[in-house]
Amino acid sequence: MAKKNIAAVDVAGKRVLIRVDFNVPMQDGQITDDRRIRAALPTIQNVIERGGRAICMSHLGRPKGEGYEEAFSLRPAADRLGELLGKPAAFPSHDCTDEAAAGAVASMNDGDVLVLENLRFHKGEKKGDSSFAAKLAALGDVYVNDAFGTCHREDASMVAVPGLMAGKPRVVGFLVEKEIKYLDEKLSEPARPFVVVLGGAKVSDKLPAITNLLEKADHILIGGAMAYTFIKALGHQVGESRVEKEHLAEAKRIIDYAANHHVELHLPTDHVCSTEFSEDVGDIEVFVDHIEPGFMGLDIGPQTQAHYAVLIRRGKTIVWNGPMGVFEWKPFRVGTKSVAESMAAATGEGATTIVGGGDSAAAVDQFGLADKMSHVSTGGGASLAMLEGKKFKAVELLDEA
Ligand code: 3PG
Repeated sequence: MAKKNIAAVDVAGKRVLIRVDFNVPMQDGQITDDRRIRAALPTIQNVIERGGRAICMSHLGRPKGEGYEEAFSLRPAADRLGELLGKPAAFPSHDCTDEAAAGAVASMNDGDVLVLENLRFHKGEKKGDSSFAAKLAALGDVYVNDAFGTCHREDASMVAVPGLMAGKPRVVGFLVEKEIKYLDEKLSEPARPFVVVLGGAKVSDKLPAITNLLEKADHILIGGAMAYTFIKALGHQVGESRVEKEHLAEAKRIIDYAANHHVELHLPTDHVCSTEFSEDVGDIEVFVDHIEPGFMGLDIGPQTQAHYAVLIRRGKTIVWNGPMGVFEWKPFRVGTKSVAESMAAATGEGATTIVGGGDSAAAVDQFGLADKMSHVSTGGGASLAMLEGKKFKAVELLDEA
């Protein structure tokens, strides 16, 4: 059943405690990608435009949980939020639960925005501690989960806080609602052909998603270093390519399962290889079928790109998680770019195209194709967990529509 969203709650004069995911990449104190902050704007704006008081809480990175650490402060995120909103976002304290934070919340006016300091400066956040959660719960009259990227976690702010706010409205924000619409609803009854593209370095990260999608997809296209565990499992030579030996048997089981069911599993048939794991050192060659000793596969080859492009263009629902090669390096970018371009073209032809977060989202951004996809997720681990078919406690406990 659908969850109630923030638009259905009268927020005028209310303290609206919004769990956002402002876990943004930072370098030297500067935000290098503010996509997650921009994605939270519709909910925050909706609350303040209707006279609510928006209290935003988030984690950033993985600090030790032993108090303030400047490198993990959310101040840059609060400043960026203020710039994007065109009005300042208060940032009262280096501790989300101290008197200064509670006092600043108490003196907010209708339409004000405030950001609490990194929740993970307290060990209680990761532990789901109820006394820590109680201090946060006391700050809100309404609870909103708009932190899609963190929905697979059961941290205090995701589960214990809304648990303690039973009896008050506990709803999803517009971002979480949109992510669920694409990653759950559109994929549970997909328009067919349903094409899944999976890549990335480690097959172990993607095995649960492949296993779940074997039951649902028409075509599964594999790329990235994870392909070499499958190719090796078929008995081909993969040279020095990355292989996870402990998963060879599982890879073979998946290949056999696909062969006996209606899903078609596609593996790269040619490979852009180098003698070094480096952008510009080493000899680069394309091998078909077998990779010679001394070489490692770092991208899918032209024949595979063309084959995958045809399958993607024929798809009516296409979901993609994980790059086809080391797209950060120019010589090994083409495979990933080709998948992104085929998906963009498919969107133009009426398909629903969904890009999982993390590296694939960064890749479509880099290629300037993000706005040519039906949906680019803000979740890394969370979007993968949805492809694995997992349910999130942090969403399940919220009010029904
Ligand atoms: C993410 O970036 O995937 C989320 O913000 C969750 O962060 P975590 O993996 O540190 O819990």
